[in-house]
Amino acid sequence: MGQPLDLLPATALDYRMRAQQRLPRFLFDYIDGGANDELTLAANVADFGKIRLKQRVLRDVSRIDTSSTLAAKPVSMPVVLAPIGLAGMMARRAEAQAVRVANAAGLPFTLSTVGICSLAEVQAAAGKPFWFQLYMIRDRIAVKSLLERALAAGCATLVFTVDLPVAGMRHRDTRNGMLTGSLRGKLGKVRQLAARPGWIADVALGGKPHTFGSLAGLVPNASDLNSFKAWIDAQFDPSVTWTDIEWLRANWPGKLLLKGILEVDDALAAAAVGVDGVIVSNHGGRQLDSVASTISKLPAIASAVGERLEVYMDGGVRSGVDVFKAIALGARGVLIGRPWIWAMAGAGASGLQDLLATFKRELEVAMSLTGVSRVSDIRQDLIDS
Ligand code: GLV
Repeated sequence: MGQPLDLLPATALDYRMRAQQRLPRFLFDYIDGGANDELTLAANVADFGKIRLKQRVLRDVSRIDTSSTLAAKPVSMPVVLAPIGLAGMMARRAEAQAVRVANAAGLPFTLSTVGICSLAEVQAAAGKPFWFQLYMIRDRIAVKSLLERALAAGCATLVFTVDLPVAGMRHRDTRNGMLTGSLRGKLGKVRQLAARPGWIADVALGGKPHTFGSLAGLVPNASDLNSFKAWIDAQFDPSVTWTDIEWLRANWPGKLLLKGILEVDDALAAAAVGVDGVIVSNHGGRQLDSVASTISKLPAIASAVGERLEVYMDGGVRSGVDVFKAIALGARGVLIGRPWIWAMAGAGASGLQDLLATFKRELEVAMSLTGVSRVSDIRQDLIDS
C-alpha cells in the first residue's frame, strides 16, 4: 500500500499515501472509498494482479510505439483521465491543472459534470478539445444547455454515465461525518479540517470558488458535501432508459461513450442505439458492491461489440502494466480515476506529470518484454492462461 513518505513517490499507491497526508479525512475518503464493504473496489485491483503475461524474447523491440487513437483523436498511449467529481476540492483548481498536464502528455482529460472548474475554465486552461462527462439530470432543459455549453467549449467526446440512477452506499461517508448534520458530525469535520492546515491554505482558501462550475445556478453550495449529496438525490434521474439514450444520441453530434456497462446484453443495447463506445465500469466499486471486477467482464463485452464500438474499461488500473493487460483483453483504451487524483492531491501537477510518465514507461517496458512494438499488436495471446 505505498512506500514510507520519506522515500520518493514512484507508483499510484505512493501518491495515494501523500494524498492521505494532505487531505482532510472526509475528502480523502470520498476519492479513495467504495460502496458498502468495498468488495468490488478490492476485486477490481486484485483481479488485475491475478493476470499473468507471457515473456517473449528476441523480437527486435528497439522501436516501441505506445501511441493510438481514441474517439478519433491521436493519443500518446491508450489512457484517459477519468471524470472525478469535486476534483477541485482535492487540489487547487485541480481540473484546470490536470487538463494542462494531460495535454502535455498527449492524453484526453474528462471533466465531470460535478467538477469544481467550469467548462469555460477548463477550456481556457486546455486550449484544445477535452472530454465532458454528464449524468442525466431531471431538468432536461438544463441537460440541453450543458450539452450546448460542452460543444461550445470544444468537447468532441461526451462520456455519459449510466450506472448512477441512485448513489451507492458509501459507508466511509457516514463514519467520517460527511453525511450527517449532527453536532458530533460537524465537530468531527472541524477536527479533520484543523489537522490539515496545508490543505486549508492551498485549496480551501487559495483554490476558491468551490462551486460546481458547470452547474452554476443549479446547485446552491458545492463546498458543503452534504448539499452535494442532497442535490444528487434530488436531481439525478433514476427514470432514465434506453429511450433517453436515443434522445441524447439525437442531441449530441460528437462522439458518445456510455460509462457503466458491465453486461454483454447492455453493451449490445448500446450498440443498437448508435453510441460510439462503451466504458466497462462499475464506477470504481462505488456503486453496487459485489458486482464482478471490470477486468473480468471486459473480454466478453469486447468480443460481443468490439468490432462495432470502441470498448474502454476503468476500475483497478494502477500501472502501465495494467494498461497493457486491459488492452490485451480487448480494451481500446482505459480510464484512470483514483491514480490521477491521488497524484494531483498528493503532489500537484508535477506529481501527476511524473505518474503519467511512469505509466507510459511501464507500458513500453511491458511491450518490450512481451515482444510487441505497437499497441495494435497487444493481443490476448500475450496473456498466460
Ligand atoms: C460520483 O460519480 C461519485 O462516484 O461520487
